[in-house]
Parts: sequence; structure tokens; C-alpha cells
Amino acid sequence: MRVGVFDSGLGGFTVLKSLVDHRCFDEIVYFGDTARVPYGSKDRNTVVRYALEALEFFENHDLDLLIVACNTVSVVGLEAMQEMASYPVVGVVEPGVQALAASLPDKQGRVLVLGTASTVRSAAYQHQLAEQGYHHVDACAPALLVSLVEEGLFDGPVMAATLDHYFSGLTRPDAIILACTHFPHIAPAIRRYFGNVLLVHSGEAIVSWLRRRGYLSDTVCDTRVRFYASENAHRVQTLGAQFIAS
Ligand code: DGL
Repeated sequence: MRVGVFDSGLGGFTVLKSLVDHRCFDEIVYFGDTARVPYGSKDRNTVVRYALEALEFFENHDLDLLIVACNTVSVVGLEAMQEMASYPVVGVVEPGVQALAASLPDKQGRVLVLGTASTVRSAAYQHQLAEQGYHHVDACAPALLVSLVEEGLFDGPVMAATLDHYFSGLTRPDAIILACTHFPHIAPAIRRYFGNVLLVHSGEAIVSWLRRRGYLSDTVCDTRVRFYASENAHRVQTLGAQFIAS
């Protein structure tokens, strides 16, 4: 199967790595819109337009399936993409909520959704969680954490102060949905801050979801990944290859 993975930039490497580690597909075409990242602070119409332009990019790649790794696009642009594409387009919201439900049977448990401003404002996760019976849900858009991840500051005093800035007023959650591609990078720091908390990672969630939906065959295969980007494609290729090998 030839599968596309789309993200606003490099954050989608966290989802790509899960797909490669689980040896799901023969070939993955990764496209990061590095020229226009971040999407999370942009207007809805702009993100939908970018999402449809990404479909134009994938047109020549003869895809069997497109995975939208970006949470912001998954909540804002997925339907528009599904209407336009001639192959299935899947996002990470439903897989994330289902992964949470599979790991947190107690519906009274407190869930924290961490995403971009767009993702949190759309309330897509909050609605799906409510449908699953979770009513103790907080949502937070810790924008500075995205910048820290981009700077490679995964830990240390700046990270600690930033986590405290956003989280000190929150009730301690039982589970956190890492609803932004960047946040799996700082999962250890988040876990240290809150103590023993369940973390839901979009990459792992989508692999289980694809398996349940019959998109994955039982045969495992080594995946060939081709990297594309709207800017600095060579850098994306180098960093991407390093990340999936790590
Ligand atoms: N990829 C985005 C997401 O998962 C985070 C970065 C951005 O704002 O573009 O929502």
C-alpha cells in the first residue's frame, strides 16, 4: 500500500515513526507544509485552503490512503479533504478518543486535551469524549510548548517553568490526550509534571485504529519513506530519516 502522511511541518514525524515502527505499509509519502507552519494559530478558512492544496500535492502520488497526522487539520479540514479525495482520508481525532476509551475504563476519570488553539477551540475532542461518556474534560492550548519543541528544548528549567505556567491551575488529570503532533516529544516531561498519568499518543492510536478498520494486513513490511516539504525539503529529508531511525 502507498500511503500519504500530511502534517503542517515536522511534527507529523511522531505519527510517521509509529507507522514505520509497526511496519504497516510498503511505502509512505510524507508531506510537511514547512513554508506555512504553524497551522494551529491560523483562521479556519486558511487551514481548509492549505489542506485542499495538500491534496493537490498528493495528486501525482497514486495513494491508497492519506493519513492526516496534524490534529489541527484533522479537526478543521478533514471533511473538506474527504469530499475532494478519490481515496480514503483519515485523521487522528477519532483514533485518539478511542485509544483513550480503551485505556481509561472509568468514565468518571478526568481527561485533559492538549492541543493547538484551533484544536481546543473547535471542541472536536471534547464532543467526541462526551459521546463516549467522559464529562470531566479540560482542554488547554499551551502554545509556547510548540515553540520549545521546535527549539529542541524538551526538558530543563524553561520547560519546567512553561509547564507550570500552563498547568498549575488545572486539576490533576487521570489521562492526557496529546492532541498536537509536537507533544509526544515532551511526553516524559509532561509525565514527570503530573506524576502517574496515562498519555495518549496519536501515532500509536492511529496504528490501532487502522488495524481495527482492516487497513493493515498481517504481513509486516519494511517501509520506504519519501519526504517532501514546501520549504527546506532537504533538511526535512535529513531530519525525518534521523527521527525514524532513532
Ligand atoms: N501539527 C499541528 C497539530 O498537530 C501542530 C503545529 C501547528 O500548529 O501547525 O495540531
